[in-house]
Amino acid sequence: MSDRLVEALTQALGDRGVITDAADRVRYEEGWRYGRGTARCVARPASSDEVAATLRLCREHAARVVVQGANTGLVAASTPDQSGAMVVVSLERLNKTIDVDVEARTALVDGGVLLSQLNEALAPHGLWFPVDLGADPQIGGMVATNTGGTRLLKYGDVRHNLLGAEIVLGDGRVVSQLNRLRKNNTGLDMKQLFVGTTGVFGVVTRAVLQLAPKPAQRATALVGCRDGAAVVALLSAVEKDLGDVLSAFEVMSSNALDAVLRHQPNLRRPFAELPAYSALVELSSTLPAASLALSDVLEERLGAHLEAAEDAIVDVLIADGDEFWQLRHHISESLRSDGRMLAFDVSVPRSQLPVFTDQVAALLAAEFPFVRLCDYGHWGDGGTHLNLVWQAADVSDEAALKATLQDRIYELAVVGHGGSYSAEHGVGPHNQRFYDRYADGEVKALCRVIGAHCDPAGMLGTVRLG
Ligand code: LAC
Ligand code: ZN
Repeated sequence: MSDRLVEALTQALGDRGVITDAADRVRYEEGWRYGRGTARCVARPASSDEVAATLRLCREHAARVVVQGANTGLVAASTPDQSGAMVVVSLERLNKTIDVDVEARTALVDGGVLLSQLNEALAPHGLWFPVDLGADPQIGGMVATNTGGTRLLKYGDVRHNLLGAEIVLGDGRVVSQLNRLRKNNTGLDMKQLFVGTTGVFGVVTRAVLQLAPKPAQRATALVGCRDGAAVVALLSAVEKDLGDVLSAFEVMSSNALDAVLRHQPNLRRPFAELPAYSALVELSSTLPAASLALSDVLEERLGAHLEAAEDAIVDVLIADGDEFWQLRHHISESLRSDGRMLAFDVSVPRSQLPVFTDQVAALLAAEFPFVRLCDYGHWGDGGTHLNLVWQAADVSDEAALKATLQDRIYELAVVGHGGSYSAEHGVGPHNQRFYDRYADGEVKALCRVIGAHCDPAGMLGTVRLG
């Protein structure tokens, strides 16, 4: 059967610009963690004009659209629904421009450029884009989800490093705010509307990013901690002593680390007996080691803290290379192959992380004893990933279990501790129900007004913010 929209898109984008074959579509239809749908087709525009043409054609044919970057998102916001009627607009061919201004320390980048591709281009200039994570997303997707990652503590999230953006709105209009200035206080900072709003107001086709000097050295330690309170005490101590050079403070529970060691046999076991928590502490500096030996500084300061903390700190290991980062970055995929899984990306004030996590553990032990709590994450930022794992045979109604666990744990985080039900992964179909429950009514009303202006036909995305 002929599809007039597919024909029109093929005419506008060329044969390479449109994918219809079911087998070729699969990788655009399944999310990394959640989300599985069926697309009418995949459109692959290679320029901002082609993105605009694609959206105009989709509008003419009343086809809803989901915009997709590298499809590494974790809340099912980058995949189509199950109707078979949505067009996936993939930005993977919009990846040519990386225009670096070395002295200004900025880069103008196409939305489909991969983070790894950008950092490779920046390396010869001694620069990098410091929003750092295990996956390799596209820059446009990073803007749309306001990615945080493992070095937010030092550099901030995407929002803090975004100077300008070009956006194609739902009906093909283009808003060009390609500001390259660090200082520009001239009214509404419109680009912020498109940061963290998951592509429902427009498509991020280009971005101007602020870059950071690449550190000349890094030193990493893994600190075994008796419990969550010991982790928070350690965090306060390293911020006080080493705050100027502290660049990451990540935490892995024994259950999370155990899963990594079982699934990644090539990675070395750091502790004979895994402590309740292992904190990865990273220092970095643009000073060379000859001027300031960070590894020695780290060992000396953590050694002093080990003495002072008595048995709250079990041991301190100083890394050889990036071995502790390897452990950290393999958690998510190791837990994925460990059984059935439900992931949480929550934040609470840092001081409340231990009590919050203990409450979750107590809830599971009392009411869901077959569920294993594998928690890890960005304690330096108050963020924790509670990945809950169970075996299929233990559960008869999995959908009901997931709904109950989400209700109970999000309530504890949001209402109990003033926390967030999505600290860094954004809003998607996976957590839409909780957006609806917890988002402020006036914020939703404003989103409806912005949506009516930017995407008048309501074509974009699978998420409702208004
Ligand atoms: C991480 C991802 C899951 O921190 O956010 O590993
Ligand atoms: Zn994370």
